[in-house]
Amino acid sequence: MARRRMVYEGKAKILYEGPEPGTLIQFFKDDTTAGNGEKHELIEGKGVLNNRLSEHFMTGLASIGVPTHFIKRLNMREQLVRAVEMIPLEVVVRNVAAGSMSKRLGIEEGTQLPRPIIEFYLKNDDLNDPIVSEEHIIAFGWATQQDLDDMVSLGLRVNDFMSGMMMGVGIKLIDFKIEIGRAFEGDFQRLIVADEISPDSCRLWDVETGQKLDKDVFRRDLGNLSEAYTEVAKRLGVMPRQN
Ligand code: C5P
Repeated sequence: MARRRMVYEGKAKILYEGPEPGTLIQFFKDDTTAGNGEKHELIEGKGVLNNRLSEHFMTGLASIGVPTHFIKRLNMREQLVRAVEMIPLEVVVRNVAAGSMSKRLGIEEGTQLPRPIIEFYLKNDDLNDPIVSEEHIIAFGWATQQDLDDMVSLGLRVNDFMSGMMMGVGIKLIDFKIEIGRAFEGDFQRLIVADEISPDSCRLWDVETGQKLDKDVFRRDLGNLSEAYTEVAKRLGVMPRQN
């Protein structure tokens, strides 16, 4: 049997050609990186957890009408997704100041923001994914004004849904990053949520204790990352089974 063709390899995932035109298989690796790959470790089982958690979030989003690339989970580490044309931006939504926002603006981590704040970052490893303004995005043609409006709307809908789901299990959604792709449907196109949504791309703090249950555990050497992700999966009732 011919080996399937790899389309793209990122830091934490691999994309393979899918079984049907317009589909891809997304494979979740155990590789865990921070600081644009400066810190790198294999954390056994992380890919399995993120595959499950991303499935859980994406299917939840689809159930409230937020379009995503997720089609179905295939096995412990792989899911079938729709192929899209990726917009070269990361959309970050923040509810509480943390991370790069706190550093850049001198706002203490943990400060509740008056409303969700959306930021755009250019996906470019050589430049360390710099923050960009809407004017930059339009001027340099990374997206159109309509795309920007749609990305803001998607970001806010994902935030509402994810904040509620996490609050239900005693976790505060501090911030998160999504990536968005252009899906073509005949003569029409629309923007859909792509990539993954997992504790790799969110900040999740326990409501009672403030304990971090996300990738900051790895970035800041705060303890055992897979225990933190397992705790999130347990609370959400999505512990991986063997299959
Ligand atoms: O580092 P920063 O504070 O800008 O991150 C904001 C949010 O976006 C965090 O939840 C972080 O995990 C996520 N993020 C990501 N991938 C990046 C940059 C940030 O998932 N390349």
